[in-house]
Amino acid sequence: MNKKEIYEELYEQTKALIKNENDIIANMANIAAIIHERFHFWWTGFYRVVNNELILGPFQGPIACTRIPYGKGVCGTSWKNASSIIVEDVHQFPGHIACSSASNSEIVVPMFKNNEVVAVLDVDSEKFATFDETDKEWLERIIGLMENSLH
Ligand code: SME
Repeated sequence: MNKKEIYEELYEQTKALIKNENDIIANMANIAAIIHERFHFWWTGFYRVVNNELILGPFQGPIACTRIPYGKGVCGTSWKNASSIIVEDVHQFPGHIACSSASNSEIVVPMFKNNEVVAVLDVDSEKFATFDETDKEWLERIIGLMENSLH
């Protein structure tokens, strides 16, 4: 299966997973697990916007930084820009926050409610340049499913 086919399957599985559940933390937990398990990324998880910072949410992988300020790191920048960011080499990203020295590339996708960013999905890889437009497109779609379940 190529990456697109895996994502198509993940998308359908996510739909089924969240259909009867509207608790955002429960859904974040299962979505982090399903993405992580399928692709064996280094770290897959969520940071939630709480007041004026990002706070660690459900994740799979090693322990991570608990708080990220607005505009800082890849996650804080994605929140500030209200758009996804693909980073081929995290060591070249100004202000990158290294929760783990094993991470070499990263993608961050924001989640919206009423046009405001309420959380970000962060996925880290031990390899360089793991993420491309296919990951961006499908992770945005998967996050979009969750956005539709937010009241
Ligand atoms: N690298 C992220 C921080 C989160 S951890 O990688 C899990 C960043 O620069 O925002």
